[in-house]
Amino acid sequence: VSDVKGGEDEGAAWVGKELAVRGWVRTCRAQRTVTFVEVNDGSCLSNMQCVLTPDTEGYDQIDSVTTGASVLVEGVVASSQGGKQKVELKVSKITVIGKSDPTSFPIQKKRASREFLRTVAHLRPRTNTFGAVRSYSLPFLVARVRNALAYATHKFFQDNGFVWVSSPIITASDCEGAGEQFYVTTLLSNSAEGGCLVKDIPATKDGRVDWSEDFFCKPAFLTVSGQLNGETYASALSDIYTFGPTFRAENSNTARHLAEFWMIEPELAFADLNDDMACATAYLQYVVKYILENCKEDMDFFNTWVEKGIIDRLNDVVEKNFVHLSYSDAVELLLGSKKDFEFPVKWGLDLQSEHERYITEVAFGGRPVIIRDYPKEIKAFYMRENDDGKTVAAMDLLVPRVGELIGGSQREERLDHLEARLDEQNLNKDSYWWYLDLRRYGSVPHAGFGLGFERLVQFATGIDNIRDAIPFPRVPGSAEF
Ligand code: 4AD
Ligand code: MG
Repeated sequence: VSDVKGGEDEGAAWVGKELAVRGWVRTCRAQRTVTFVEVNDGSCLSNMQCVLTPDTEGYDQIDSVTTGASVLVEGVVASSQGGKQKVELKVSKITVIGKSDPTSFPIQKKRASREFLRTVAHLRPRTNTFGAVRSYSLPFLVARVRNALAYATHKFFQDNGFVWVSSPIITASDCEGAGEQFYVTTLLSNSAEGGCLVKDIPATKDGRVDWSEDFFCKPAFLTVSGQLNGETYASALSDIYTFGPTFRAENSNTARHLAEFWMIEPELAFADLNDDMACATAYLQYVVKYILENCKEDMDFFNTWVEKGIIDRLNDVVEKNFVHLSYSDAVELLLGSKKDFEFPVKWGLDLQSEHERYITEVAFGGRPVIIRDYPKEIKAFYMRENDDGKTVAAMDLLVPRVGELIGGSQREERLDHLEARLDEQNLNKDSYWWYLDLRRYGSVPHAGFGLGFERLVQFATGIDNIRDAIPFPRVPGSAEF
């Protein structure tokens, strides 16, 4: 359908040509002599209006042509009388491929809330209609823009000489040291039938878990970040990036947190924090420009129905410089604002989302802001200590509505400093032996960042809840589908 209707002439050049469309019925309107069936094949938001008459082959199945059914329609493209679209399909033959019982099909126009749609996540991408209920089209469009952002991500890094590295999903390392991992239960025993069964965790005499019987012989969990593994490959191939799922067992029921989210983590060798910030800026501008140029129909929809003016704001992201400021200056700015924040503002405390939103939305009128040089106590062990001994070469990139979109840093490449940081944070040096080896053998200054992909989708489309930025959201209390 996008091939036909996507061009400048909206399909006029196709008039008189034969066309077959396979897709799903959005609506079916029967009039006295003709029946209009709107069919969507997933290639674009537009449906193909199909015109059936009693002469159409397969017309005896018309009772099965209901919302949600899959069909094959064959016919000839004709100019449309209606005015809503340039062309329509005069159908000579219709084949119902899969019926859809109209009495039980859950996607009914009257129940359009996004909360409801999340309860039917397996069917929600089928919901696109230009009918009265615009929010219906969101899952469909978000899936398309998400795809374009992923494509643009690979294109940006590949075009700039980065190598894509697959980081492991199961790991024994806690990159962020925050203790927010999901454990992988792997205490297995062989069953009589030959398969494996999960068995009770055996305890040693002193009551501690005996991990020697575990599949991995030590506690393993789902990765919170691919960074540490990425650093090893950046120490051999120079610039690399990872792009994969990451997991966090933080019990935050917010519109910006998921338990399973995708992260893009570039790692730049022979680079410092300034190089890192320049890369983050160029990357973000590139992917935003890409969707503005390549997802016009979808972005027009978001601009009209989801967040008015988002296209202008995204154009500003591409064209204007980002604001740069140090953590210390950010604290000054917040203290000077005289605003009554819920959480305290004080040098040494982490910025809360209300503070981050104030900075991007109020203080800098919606521009992306990069804050750098945070107190070392509130940041991860691997960040490089600055000469002041109090701060680390960290940066967070904040955007309006979403808050923190990117977190990154220059890494501590000096062995003695890194060991001291692990001690300070009460982390077990032994378990980071391989990470420390990178500092023992051919260490180089390097830096990188992590961008939460769903937060990027949120930012780029204007949707307000991160649960609508991923096909199957994983949040506390919900792992259905
Ligand atoms: O700031 P974070 O925790 O940084 C890291 O994981 C580093 N290892 C990244 C690096 O330097 N390679 O997470 C990075 C980003 C955040 O800025 C945010 O966009 C996203 O990941 N993020 C989440 N997105 C959705 N749900 C969550 N629970 C998220 N936690 C972090
Ligand atoms: Mg962070």
